[in-house]
Amino acid sequence: MLVEMQMPEGYSFVSVAGGWNAPPRIPKFTGVNQRAYREAAAAFLKDHGIAEPEIELTQVIRIDLDGDGADEVVVSGTRNGGDGPGGVQPGDYSFVFLRKLVGGKVRTTPIVTDLHLDPKPHSFSYRLEVVAILDFNGDGTMEIVTSSEYYEGIAVAVLTVDGLDIKQVLIEGCGAIGGSFIVRNALILTAATPRAQGTGRKHALTSSAGAVMSLDEKVSTHYATGDLGQAILDALAADGKDIDKLTLKDLAPVDAFHIGGWEATERMGRNLGLAAGMKVVDMGSGLGGTARQLASTHDCHVSGVDLTAEYCRVAGMLAERLGLSGRTAFHHANALETPFADAAFDAGYTQHAAMNIPDKAGLYAEAARLLKPGGAFAVYDIAQGTGGDVIYPTPWARDPAASFLATMEEMLELLPEAGFAVEGARDLTDDARAYFRAKAAEMSGEKPPALGFQVMLGPIFKEMRQNQLRNFTEDRLALVEIVCRKG
Ligand SMILES: C[S@@+](CC[C@H](N)C(=O)[O-])C[C@H]1O[C@@H](n2cnc3c(N)ncnc32)[C@H](O)[C@@H]1O
Repeated sequence: MLVEMQMPEGYSFVSVAGGWNAPPRIPKFTGVNQRAYREAAAAFLKDHGIAEPEIELTQVIRIDLDGDGADEVVVSGTRNGGDGPGGVQPGDYSFVFLRKLVGGKVRTTPIVTDLHLDPKPHSFSYRLEVVAILDFNGDGTMEIVTSSEYYEGIAVAVLTVDGLDIKQVLIEGCGAIGGSFIVRNALILTAATPRAQGTGRKHALTSSAGAVMSLDEKVSTHYATGDLGQAILDALAADGKDIDKLTLKDLAPVDAFHIGGWEATERMGRNLGLAAGMKVVDMGSGLGGTARQLASTHDCHVSGVDLTAEYCRVAGMLAERLGLSGRTAFHHANALETPFADAAFDAGYTQHAAMNIPDKAGLYAEAARLLKPGGAFAVYDIAQGTGGDVIYPTPWARDPAASFLATMEEMLELLPEAGFAVEGARDLTDDARAYFRAKAAEMSGEKPPALGFQVMLGPIFKEMRQNQLRNFTEDRLALVEIVCRKG
């Protein structure tokens, strides 16, 4: 059988053509900031000669590979991999390793690695990741498919796992554009470099029966940590706050996960004309700081939806601590398909979430469905600027594959198409530059606060923050605020 696939830009496909169930068990992508796997990665890198590794995990995947009822964990991490041939530094690495219970002990064994102990001025390093976990030969045990990406190409390999014994059985590689081939009429494998630079409308990642990381999984894996509630409380205590008497403002350094923090939310509440008793929807509510602030200030009820399950749980826990659980609710759902009835809300907003959502038209259409006629809707978002490609990592995406930026002009076209009349639109890019300059000064002070976005994003947040200052300074990004009303 020959299957031909059209490859839209930005997609990766791994398919198995056979009579058996290729994904007998579905891999589960979990948070990349979990302490246990960060420690396992540090130990692994130290064992391989990197004395003081900077830990940056990209994937933590749970999967019962051999069907014995016990999950294995596949962990990927990269420091400075996949870029141009501008040189390799000691301590740069990329790896995929397996954590497996053997004889009552968890063992770590490498699947693929690219580790650098010495500087190599004209060399490059790989970015190694898992692209699928599937049963390729129908024997009930699943194989691991890895990609090794470098600045002008990618190779995709299939590896068998037998206990701790890992063997590469197939590899396909190509230059910058991807390729395909067929093995014994059983395997069709196509790979394209995931270089989706966002205009925001046409890109999406796909999930093949859950075996390839979907966009939803990629996004929530980026944000989740596994132990965020406790980490926030620990950081608050380290900053000298009484965690039994928390105030809304105590939490703002972490739960106002948008440029301008508390003040930006105050402005949005005013723009929306919120008043007591109103029902408000927050599309992409994160840790719920905006919802709590607006519910408390305007005596309204805010319902948030967010893709990251852990954020919804932590948002609920924080609302409980602040006595706001009666005026806020947090639902684990995609903002494109919320669990609410038509015209259930008086007002709504989306704040710094749409950068992860390729289907902006769908997002605005869902907002229009949820609002009563005359209901106000605010978009406070990061947009594509005019100054060229965005530099990653950014706080919403470690690479372009999960980033979908529209321009302000595109947003202003799409909102009326969804049924909104635009009442005001402002470019706040100058404010964004000032905000990131102030953050840089705060973090380089004598005692930088423990509470901040690094609690959820890890040490890579420093690089994200620096990139954001550059992205806004060089007009690669723009900050926009739009207020509109449902017709
Ligand atoms: C940068 S945070 C902003 C959170 C919050 N709006 C705030 O300003 O504090 C982005 C949030 O958008 C959420 N998100 C991304 N894509 C989403 C989607 N399709 N549906 C719902 N939430 C989404 C993420 O899980 C994350 O919590």
